Amino acid sequence: MTLKIGFTGTGYISKIHAAAARVQPDTELVAVVNHRPESMAAFAAEYSIPRQYSTVAELLQEGGVDTLVVSTPNYLHAPETIAALEAGIHVMVEKPMAMNAAEAEAMLEASQKSGALLMVAHCWRFDPEVLWLKEQVDRGRLGKIIRTKGYGVHANWGPGGWFTQKKFAGGGALADMGIHALDTARFLLGDPQPVSVYARIGTHYKDFDVDDTGVIWVNWDNGAVSYLESGWWQPHMDGPEAATQLYGTAGFGQIFPTRLLLPQAERNKVEQIDPGFPLVRDPHCPQSMYDTQMAYFLECIRTGRAPSPGVAEGLLNMRVVDAAYRSAETGEVVKL
Ligand SMILES: NC(=O)c1ccc[n+]([C@@H]2O[C@H](COP(=O)([O-])OP(=O)(O)OC[C@H]3O[C@@H](n4cnc5c(N)ncnc54)[C@H](O)[C@@H]3O)[C@@H](O)[C@H]2O)c1
Repeated sequence: MTLKIGFTGTGYISKIHAAAARVQPDTELVAVVNHRPESMAAFAAEYSIPRQYSTVAELLQEGGVDTLVVSTPNYLHAPETIAALEAGIHVMVEKPMAMNAAEAEAMLEASQKSGALLMVAHCWRFDPEVLWLKEQVDRGRLGKIIRTKGYGVHANWGPGGWFTQKKFAGGGALADMGIHALDTARFLLGDPQPVSVYARIGTHYKDFDVDDTGVIWVNWDNGAVSYLESGWWQPHMDGPEAATQLYGTAGFGQIFPTRLLLPQAERNKVEQIDPGFPLVRDPHCPQSMYDTQMAYFLECIRTGRAPSPGVAEGLLNMRVVDAAYRSAETGEVVKL
């Protein structure tokens, strides 16, 4: 069955999704939505997309798409996703799935009523190095994971435009980058439920109404704790823009660079397990990760399987993000 794919948004990540979609078998890139005719025309030409619309409503009115990839600014994720789901169209929506958990809950409700699938593009779940580390955890090589340490940070750089305006983005570096570190830690821990959140979040490097700096503690119901950092314009980052470390009772594991350190019975003796991934990735977020993500989404549609990361994972992440902002405002631990 050929799947007809539409896109809303024609910016940075839409191009990556379109490039991912066009290499999948039995797909047709049929429609694009953008309020800016010129960038839409350029996108349509680059990916040979025949139909162009200025709103998702117009596209849905005309029909002829099976699925919509939502890669617009965050404030459009919920309305565009809900409209598509109500029309019976499968959706893959970018992270953060919404401006806040309340919007994400409305998306959950729409997906339950619709019967169409909703996937949230938490892309790190499709990365081979993340998947290798997850396999080691699942095999019990690290023992019980006690704590995780991770970050999603841009050093000496940050996005501009809508990303830095609360009314369009919902939140700043936490909603943009910290959510990757949060989702990766949770995935590696086996998707536990959050119990409580404490955060210190602020804006210290630029003049905008969203955050550029955050440290967040999440306590999970399996007893583990995650320490997460989010940032734009930071003066330093510990490695590439996103990385996670796991501290288990039987050893240490990390992405990136990706390896295990397993202490031996003999004092000061440590076995290093090196899976052989390149020490430095360039680019850090390769097209292949998004190709795998798109292939998985299309397979879910074809097989009728509920995607994971889906609405449950996306909503939970929004709840933690909301709790972190609340904690930073009140100075209190927020229970979930
Ligand atoms: N998973 C990842 O690796 C990753 C990377 C980058 C961005 N993202 C997410 O993807 C989303 C888009 O980010 P981006 O970097 O591509 O942003 P961008 O600014 O490059 O692109 C946004 C696009 O939305 C379009 N747009 C704005 N208003 C619109 C409207 N009313 N209708 C249709 N289109 C409209 C803009 O013209 C632009 O084409 C964000 O939610 C972001 O968090 C995810």
